[in-house]
Amino acid sequence: MSQPLTLGTLYQHLRGELAAAKIEEPDLEARMLLAFAAGIDQTRIIGYPEDEMDADIVQRVEALIARRQQGEPIAYIIGSREFWSLDFKVTPDTLIPRPDSETLIEAVLEAVPNKTAELKLLDLGTGSGCLLLALLSELPNASGTGIDINPKACAIAAENAENLNLTARATFIQSDWMVGIEGKFDIIVSNPPYIVESDIPTLEADVSLFEPHLALSGGPDGLDAYRLIADQAAAHLSPQGLLAVEIGMGQVTDIKELFEQNGFKIKNIHKDFSHIERCILATIEDS
Ligand SMILES: C[S@@+](CC[C@H](N)C(=O)[O-])C[C@H]1O[C@@H](n2cnc3c(N)ncnc32)[C@H](O)[C@@H]1O
Repeated sequence: MSQPLTLGTLYQHLRGELAAAKIEEPDLEARMLLAFAAGIDQTRIIGYPEDEMDADIVQRVEALIARRQQGEPIAYIIGSREFWSLDFKVTPDTLIPRPDSETLIEAVLEAVPNKTAELKLLDLGTGSGCLLLALLSELPNASGTGIDINPKACAIAAENAENLNLTARATFIQSDWMVGIEGKFDIIVSNPPYIVESDIPTLEADVSLFEPHLALSGGPDGLDAYRLIADQAAAHLSPQGLLAVEIGMGQVTDIKELFEQNGFKIKNIHKDFSHIERCILATIEDS
């Protein structure tokens, strides 16, 4: 590259490289990567393009471009992703939180009549902790437990709780679904792995090659985790409790049936921003 010496020329270079690599939003990603490499706020790139850049920042930018060109998701490169307007640390042990999952947060909040109640929450397959922590940020007297089979994910979720000042109300435990869980909860949420195992290689490379297999694979028909949750959740739900699960495209009929067969009553089905059925809310039948 022809020695970009200022913030502005480095930004243009980075933007050009990302556009050439067919990255969908080269402007946004160039700002994110440059701000990360230089340890500055993104607004500085627009406000002070004449700022001179040290050689080590230029080198760092080149290394980041190479990683992005190889398909590594930007969230793993910069180590964070925004969800529900909160900043979450993410690593290759955690799924990158998706905007679609905000549907579940909206659905649960809409269904909670008293936001200041002392609710007990359980998040199954917590990953970065994004679902539990987003809900706790909106429900000031609620507390919750996030479980994940991956202890490294539990550690990241605990770090996120600390960064969001929610440690006092959030606990993270390694568990194989509800095996290690005791007691009853007012709200159980889950975004379990739901991709059909044989479809994983056909997904975009940034997902199939970089995101954790444990977070993606729902087994031969994508429904393995829902079968276990449908079987185990009722025993851990308080009488008026609410179960909210995220679902994949085209899974609504099968999953609805699965929960109904296990004694749940479907309360609501919520669509995401693309009008895809994305979240099922259920209660225990006799509640
Ligand atoms: C689709 S990710 C969801 C992560 C996070 N809740 C989110 O919405 O971004 C599913 C999570 O389930 C976890 N998981 C997979 N199998 C599990 C099991 N048997 N018991 C508990 N958690 C499991 C994975 O490690 C992963 O973090």
